[in-house]
Amino acid sequence: MPKKEVPTTTRQSIINAQPRIHQRAPEIQPYGTVSHALPLELEEPVRLEMTEQLNLLLADTMTLRDLYKKSHWQVAGPTFYQLHLLFDKHYEEQVEVVDEIAERIQLLGGVSLAMAADVAETTRIERPPRGREEVPVQISRLLDAHQIIIGHCRRLSRRASELGDDGTNDMVVSDVLRPNELQVWFLSEHLVDVPLVHAEEPGVRKAG
Ligand SMILES: [Fe+2]
Repeated sequence: MPKKEVPTTTRQSIINAQPRIHQRAPEIQPYGTVSHALPLELEEPVRLEMTEQLNLLLADTMTLRDLYKKSHWQVAGPTFYQLHLLFDKHYEEQVEVVDEIAERIQLLGGVSLAMAADVAETTRIERPPRGREEVPVQISRLLDAHQIIIGHCRRLSRRASELGDDGTNDMVVSDVLRPNELQVWFLSEHLVDVPLVHAEEPGVRKAG
């Protein structure tokens, strides 16, 4: 059969190099819901509870990630160089943790938080000032944030186990809890008040 020729004018109306910008449409899935049927052998109420909890963990982790970048940029003092590098290393590790949590939420059929304004409304981590703070305060804020996340990880991993969501339990323990524990060690050693050059004579050291 001979191929039917499309008139030039019709083709021009179909094929058009003009990008279709400024488009909007209703959401395809509202926040706070999960897809009904997924072949995961996990009931919808379990996935709802897990995705809600994981979004809290995500908001706190995104806040901690950003607190590390703030600290990386704004650090001052004689330990500037090592802390500048350490804060950025921890930032990069938290970027990976954020991705793990967000993709676990999507995998369970949920909708992950993403934007800063939504994160700010959700996180339980205290908001720092915009200005610069001294190193002990920077590190204390980071440790407080880690503590919130670590506490949540312990409760969430146990609950996931109870509900039969072994994947969430494994991810929370291996990919969130353990990296956070390690970062706490690296930070908290900076708050041990030891002499830099001269060892103190016995009896000279002040109490407290
Ligand atoms: Fe940098």
